Amino acid sequence: MNNSFLRLGADRQQVLDDTFDLVQKMWSGMDKAREGEPEITDETWSLLAETLPEQGIAPTAAIDEAATVLDQSLAQSRPRFFAYIGSSGLEVGAVADFLAASYDINVAIDARASSFLEIQTGKWMAEFIGFPGRGLFTSGGTVSNITALAAARQRAVPESREFGNTVPMAVYVSSEAHYSNKRAVELLGLGTRSVRAIPIDDHHRMNTAALEAQIKEDIAAGVRPTCIIASAGTTLTGAIDPLREIARIAKKYDVWMHVDGAYGGPAAGTDLVREQFDGLDLADSVTIDAHKWMFVPKACSIVLVRDYSALAATFGHNEAYMPHDTEDPNPVDVTLEYSRPLRALKLWLGFKAHGAAEFRQAIEHDIMLARETYARASADLSIRVLPHPPALSVVPMQHVPAGMTDRDEISAHNAALCAAIIDDGRVYLSPAQIDGETWLRPCFTNFRTDMSDVDALFEVIDELGTKLAGV
Ligand SMILES: Cc1ncc(COP(=O)(O)O)c(C=O)c1O
Repeated sequence: MNNSFLRLGADRQQVLDDTFDLVQKMWSGMDKAREGEPEITDETWSLLAETLPEQGIAPTAAIDEAATVLDQSLAQSRPRFFAYIGSSGLEVGAVADFLAASYDINVAIDARASSFLEIQTGKWMAEFIGFPGRGLFTSGGTVSNITALAAARQRAVPESREFGNTVPMAVYVSSEAHYSNKRAVELLGLGTRSVRAIPIDDHHRMNTAALEAQIKEDIAAGVRPTCIIASAGTTLTGAIDPLREIARIAKKYDVWMHVDGAYGGPAAGTDLVREQFDGLDLADSVTIDAHKWMFVPKACSIVLVRDYSALAATFGHNEAYMPHDTEDPNPVDVTLEYSRPLRALKLWLGFKAHGAAEFRQAIEHDIMLARETYARASADLSIRVLPHPPALSVVPMQHVPAGMTDRDEISAHNAALCAAIIDDGRVYLSPAQIDGETWLRPCFTNFRTDMSDVDALFEVIDELGTKLAGV
């Protein structure tokens, strides 16, 4: 019985032509910053209020509507998006997503060539940062961190899959580690009371003497040290914990060492800052978000592990509907997710089309922009910076109008300034609470950003900061 349901049929060519025109315009529109963010128009609000369409419209008309919505959205890939840890929507990465979605390969099971491509790309990523292991692709740093902590728990308490958390456990993070690590602890049922937030030093790195003291105290109290999570690039300031010393402690007390390098990890592959990651190769697992500083579109994270069999021990199942006919475990037996798209393709195509060297250059370019920003901010009497240059590419700063000395007043001024900047729309920034104060927190992770964007950042901070202070 033939049918024509859900096919593009005769419209296919037109749909492809229109889509490619749109993508062409969109990419050239992203090469340079736009003057401001467009408002959501009344037409778009009406479109977004429509109820379930029982009948379709011409696919090309629907695509135009989708493009309108996308254009009136905040795209982190624009060069003046300095907030959070932005992404870049690497062009060949977007093409890879289109191709991967069109084939719709599921790497939950042995998908033949694509399964090998995922393994190969994981190895490339490991090689890029100098880590001896292999990787699996997940939907983000959060899931990668959960995956690693699950493996750590499996090693510390092997009976946990069967009997649950039978012994009290402790997980060590710096007090500025990303929240996703706490979430992983909660989801695995360890309870947030098991999180040991280790104090930081004046560079915002984990204090390793305090770490070791805490581990000893836990062991004496019958608590099982389960995982040390080192940050390699904290979200707040880009600080990198002392990895070699943490690895020494992890080995001494036989604790799994995970490195949350979701943001900073790729920088370990550059000559410029490689030495700050000394000891990374000694970790048991590493999280890298390729959708952050490897520039590819979301969602694309990698959890790298030294011992692949640890994942099989953590996630393996022998389901009747999942044939196990090879030596190597099914992907589904080493991952938290079942159905998974071929996320690796965007990084694979990125490496193939640009080469690892170009990725290193792009990361170093961002670091240089951050250093230049720090230097300019340090020389500007109306801007306060942290007492040390950025470890990576986050440059916290405060606008301090002449005569304003009270810390709370400066914090309030910067919170208001950040809101004004977002409202203005020429650049996009996010605020951050550092040592109890509110800072502006530009972060450079986009290959499209250049010095003209840094100029714009200072111009907007100065103009709106001065206006707000009424001086
Ligand atoms: C250090 C760190 N870890 C984990 C995450 C969470 O990553 P995702 O948003 O991809 O889940 C982030 C996000 O910014 C991060 O900066």
